[in-house]
Amino acid sequence: MNFHVVLSIWLFIFLTSITAQSQTTSDARALDALLQDYAFRAFVRPRTGVVYDGVVPSNLTGTRISGVRLRSGSLRTRGVTFNEYEIPTGVVEQPYVERLVLVYQNLGNWSMTYYPLQGYSYLAPVLGLLAYDATDLSAQNLPELDIRASDQPISIRFSNLRSIPDGLVPQCVLFDLNGSVNFSNVVSGNICTTFRQGHFAIVVESIAPVPSPVGPPRPGGAPSEGPVPSGARHNNRSRVWIIVGSVLGGLALLVLLGLLVLWVRKYRHRKKMEKMERAAEFGEALHMTSVGNTKAPAAMGTRTQPTLETEYVP
Ligand SMILES: *[C@@H]1O[C@H](CO)[C@@H](O)[C@H](O)[C@H]1NC(C)=O
Ligand SMILES: *[C@@H]1O[C@H](CO)[C@@H](O)[C@H](O)[C@H]1NC(C)=O
Ligand SMILES: *[C@@H]1O[C@H](CO)[C@@H](O)[C@H](O)[C@H]1NC(C)=O
Ligand SMILES: *[C@@H]1O[C@H](CO)[C@@H](O)[C@H](O)[C@H]1NC(C)=O
Repeated sequence: MNFHVVLSIWLFIFLTSITAQSQTTSDARALDALLQDYAFRAFVRPRTGVVYDGVVPSNLTGTRISGVRLRSGSLRTRGVTFNEYEIPTGVVEQPYVERLVLVYQNLGNWSMTYYPLQGYSYLAPVLGLLAYDATDLSAQNLPELDIRASDQPISIRFSNLRSIPDGLVPQCVLFDLNGSVNFSNVVSGNICTTFRQGHFAIVVESIAPVPSPVGPPRPGGAPSEGPVPSGARHNNRSRVWIIVGSVLGGLALLVLLGLLVLWVRKYRHRKKMEKMERAAEFGEALHMTSVGNTKAPAAMGTRTQPTLETEYVP
């Protein structure tokens, strides 16, 4: 019984923690879809190459979006400067479209909510840049185009970084659309570079609680004070879940190991018993004889006969 039960419990815990991880990724993807829709709404008889600021739904106050429509040929040969993004020449999209829309997102105080990052705090809000086909400007749930820079990278010049805590080195973080996270060095104090689209921010590790210039530190000294205080609650909650998950997972693993050890011992014991039983049967076949008051095989001398030897060793 127990072996299977424990295994299932352990698997369950493992899968739950994976699901929790992909939950934040799918929240972020749902946000991308929503912001694509709202950014496109800003295009009322849009002129090519002009940046239009969108209006976000009231439940996302604190974020900013804008969009620009471009001919893909002109993007490739001339590049474009779009808010903090500096897109060099040589950027191409896959699949090819004649015109595309670039959607810019500034997640402001929602950065932590949608892009929680364990052990880091944000020095700048998450900025997203995503590309879409511009054929239908009322389309919803559009898939992103895959845009790539070829020779020079796209750069993102962050403004108004929070001051860097002493001794900590800021890093650029990239969240790609599949939810994977990459770190890279900050260039010239406030610039991140990338060859692909996604969401970007500047972070520092928060080993010790970072004194926050924004608002008082929360009780419990959570090391995640960012420029985005209320997002941290979500983050704390997921941290608690991760801790609980790890502890339970660890316990389950221990129990599992214990059971494995027991099982191996039982198995070896059984094997030994079987061997002894077999030996006993074998002994009986050999005519047991009494030596004192214990029984023992009588034909000790025949033990080296090849037929018996092969039978004895399974
Ligand atoms: C915010 O509001 C919009 C429109 O009212 C809705 O579609 C969306 O699901 C809401 N988003 C969240 C995160 O609550
Ligand atoms: C995401 O994953 C899909 C398939 O798993 C892959 O084709 C795609 O290139 C990935 N996208 C990024 C941005 O890594
Ligand atoms: C992330 O980093 C790895 C290794 O450093 C690299 O192979 C990969 O292409 C990077 N992903 C993105 C989206 O930049
Ligand atoms: C961000 O700030 C706005 C007000 O500026 C507020 O309405 C919103 O709830 C905040 N968002 C988060 C996640 O705290």
